[in-house]
Amino acid sequence: MKLRELDKKMKECQACELAKTRTMVVPGEGSSRAEIMFIGEGPGKNEDLQGRPFVGAAGKFLDELLGQINLKREDIYIANVVKCRPPNNRDPKPEEAKACWPWLEQQIQIIKPKIIVPLGRHSLQRFIPEAIISQYHGRALRKEFKPLGKLVFFPCYHPAAALYNGSLRTILEEDFRKIPKIIELIEKEE
Ligand code: URA
Repeated sequence: MKLRELDKKMKECQACELAKTRTMVVPGEGSSRAEIMFIGEGPGKNEDLQGRPFVGAAGKFLDELLGQINLKREDIYIANVVKCRPPNNRDPKPEEAKACWPWLEQQIQIIKPKIIVPLGRHSLQRFIPEAIISQYHGRALRKEFKPLGKLVFFPCYHPAAALYNGSLRTILEEDFRKIPKIIELIEKEE
């Protein structure tokens, strides 16, 4: 299946309660051949209105971070753990995240990224439940992830958390700067 077909199906999803309150589904955006896949938590107000991921202030900062390593949105793929906005930006409920999971799994299967960058602790915990973001950020780790096989994860803080925190901002910039080198290392291994 192609991403476009998957997006079309996603836009009709009624698998959880969030379908009742969303304005638009936010499937994700970017290149279907991206080497890097960024995964946020879920759409906020702006994303819900536009149907596009990371279009608010955190998205602007994400673009800046990408620019610092010479990447544009078109080069990467960006998705969220849940594709519909939880009302008032509350955390997604476990049953909502569970209902949405097959979409993300299929996106990863189609894109086959070289690395997955979970943004923030909620996204990280979906992939590596025991991981604590303050200990795992900026480190690549390879993990068998059923049914997708071996995946390389490179957790980072969420850009929204760094918006008003100068030291987190510096950490996020430093972590992003490691991404090209990690891809290089993975390519050498292949
Ligand atoms: N925060 C997220 O985690 N995802 C978005 O799409 C926007 C903000």
